[in-house]
Amino acid sequence: MDQLIIEGGRPLRGGVRVSGSKNAALPILIATLLTDEPCVIDNVPVLLRDLRTTFRLLESLGKRVEISGGQVRVSAHGSLKTQAPYEIVKQMRASVLAAGPLLARFGLVRVPIPGGCAIGLRPIDIHLKGFKALGAREIADHGDIILSAARLKAGRVKFKFPSVGATQHIMMAAAAVEGLTVVENAAREPEINDLAGFLERLGAKVKGAGTSRVEIRGRRTLGGATHSVIPDRIEAGTFLLAGAAATGRLTVIGAEAAHLRAVTAKMRAAGAKIEESVGSMTVTMTGRPKPVSIATAPYPGFPTDLQAPWLAWMCLAKGRSRVAETVFENRFLHAAELARMGARIAVSGGTAIIDGVESLSGAPIMASDIRAGAALIVAALAAKGRTTISRVYHIDRGYERVEKKLRGAGARARRVTA
Ligand code: UD1
Repeated sequence: MDQLIIEGGRPLRGGVRVSGSKNAALPILIATLLTDEPCVIDNVPVLLRDLRTTFRLLESLGKRVEISGGQVRVSAHGSLKTQAPYEIVKQMRASVLAAGPLLARFGLVRVPIPGGCAIGLRPIDIHLKGFKALGAREIADHGDIILSAARLKAGRVKFKFPSVGATQHIMMAAAAVEGLTVVENAAREPEINDLAGFLERLGAKVKGAGTSRVEIRGRRTLGGATHSVIPDRIEAGTFLLAGAAATGRLTVIGAEAAHLRAVTAKMRAAGAKIEESVGSMTVTMTGRPKPVSIATAPYPGFPTDLQAPWLAWMCLAKGRSRVAETVFENRFLHAAELARMGARIAVSGGTAIIDGVESLSGAPIMASDIRAGAALIVAALAAKGRTTISRVYHIDRGYERVEKKLRGAGARARRVTA
């Protein structure tokens, strides 16, 4: 099991490059199940553990996956299967998105129901209700869900909450169904637009992606396509916060400023200087931040995936701030680890109250999920002395070779195999 060792208290200087978006690449790769023609996807963060899991998922369902640098070619390899293995779905809940394309094409699919995870229960009721609205029947059987429909029908789906996964899931299925499907109260995350672009290249028509009403005009048979994945806004935001917490001047190469408005507005309010140019963003920070409170919300609100790194920075603020988590029910596992570094955080329900301290001190700590792990890196870079982070496999799900990228910006960070 790997550990990350970070010697903190050194300002970051120079540049760090963001990878392609994990959360955009996953549904796009899964959407290749909609066609028998070859698809070529570029700018895929192939080193991430979740991507490796996605490749295994596609292969287990009958696709051939060829990787060359950051380019992934997915092609037909015999006929597709309509049953996803539990071994894969339990490792990555986004695997459940394979159900929609297979249901739309073959009228029957069996997938394990993903369990909860460290940050919450994460049911898939919104997805299932969507498929029922398109005419599917659902049976639960020994931990699996079986969805069937002689032929899925185009129709209107209205979500009770703008779930990112459910929006992507219905869009994918609708792309392979003749007629017009309308999703109301859809999620508006940039990853939805990226998927919409890919579905259009396959031959579907998609209108309104990025708004709360998405219209998909599907086609029974879709073709192949090439597509390049958008930059990872969560990785970019994590680096901006790391640069602010460690102080110094850090350029995040490849960051898309338009995807990070909610975050940069708050960072500026806390005293960071942020410069934006085409294809990069630079953060400059000296000293401790002003305390600034945030509440997470679906896009374009403050992303829940940057809540933990934000909280880590606020541990050093000159005063009290609040962090309200409204998207997931249990997303403060990083607070106890940050407390081991000297942070003063009180968590009550969905809110954390942070009393900023002059400095954090390095300590042995543990990552509990991807973004909690990212928060520990942010804190470790700012802390005095050595921090050893264990359970790095959580971080490796969402950040490609993070220690190597940070070393390029002057951090003392290395990986050891314990
Ligand atoms: C995606 C992202 C994840 C991010 C999240 C919110 C991927 C692979 N993951 O996850 O990094 O944190 O968006 O921005 O893209 N919910 C239900 N019923 C459902 C579906 C969701 O109650 O059927 C709840 C969830 O439990 C959660 C909230 O809705 O509390 C948000 O979930 P959702 O938007 O679906 O997130 P994911 O697509 O799982």
